Amino acid sequence: MLYFVQPSTRTFLSFQSACQILGMQCSEIRNPSISSEAKGERVEDAIRTFSSYVDIIIMRSPLPGLCSRMAQILDQSNRPVPIINAGSGPDEHPTQALLDLYTLHRDFKNCGGISGKTICMVGDLKHGRTVRSLARMLVHFPNIHMIFSSPKNFAIKDDIRDYLSKQNHITFSETEEFETLLPQCDALYMTRIQDEWHSPGESFDKERYHLKWHHLKQMKENALILHPFPRREEIEVRVDQDPRAKYWEQERNGMWIRLALISQILNVSDELCDYYDKAINES
Ligand code: NCD
Repeated sequence: MLYFVQPSTRTFLSFQSACQILGMQCSEIRNPSISSEAKGERVEDAIRTFSSYVDIIIMRSPLPGLCSRMAQILDQSNRPVPIINAGSGPDEHPTQALLDLYTLHRDFKNCGGISGKTICMVGDLKHGRTVRSLARMLVHFPNIHMIFSSPKNFAIKDDIRDYLSKQNHITFSETEEFETLLPQCDALYMTRIQDEWHSPGESFDKERYHLKWHHLKQMKENALILHPFPRREEIEVRVDQDPRAKYWEQERNGMWIRLALISQILNVSDELCDYYDKAINES
């Protein structure tokens, strides 16, 4: 079941393509106004209903914490089908973080891997869920240094600060600078302004956090430029021509990492690898 009641292009399509490659059939809800939620059904009941018909639920919802709450509810039911969080409110986007890591892993393969790298995350870090999930996953790599670059009132929240420093003893820095950071970055993770989550009166000094063509000469030769997309003006389109721009690869990697995740959850990854090896040997 693809339950996506928040706008989505890449996450929806990459999950759908991953399911299709695996030979799975998908049901989908993208518009709750034409399901029974419009008749006043509780969202928890609606999602529990899906578990009667499918073997896995992939869900994106604007409601913070709903994915984990549903996972707990289903775990206590007699059909505890797995749930994958495909974006939950402004809190978490774990499969985006997986694809970001996979992209970093592939591109840093020949220069020592992800460990020890300086990763700079830029933009509306207060509301951006991709940065929150990526920061949490990066703690698994030794000697990683994270730099968070944003206006002061759009800085990462205390829960992430605590997760990094108190719970995982990771050193990180926070700054309002952007341009002066560029020479230090091994990876530059740009994000858009998340104005759908802003309170009235919150405004962001955008221009300062835009990556332009002329900035590229200040960056390391092997640095990587990432963005979860959609992009607005954070990265000038001309930057796409630079080999350090990896965001189009990220999209493709997203499909494969989601395929891998689904096959792992459904316990078919070994079978799939055998099938693949056999197909390669026969060809
Ligand atoms: C992100 C999201 O939805 O959180 N997009 C995505 O899934 N690739 C980032 C965003 O919307 O800015």
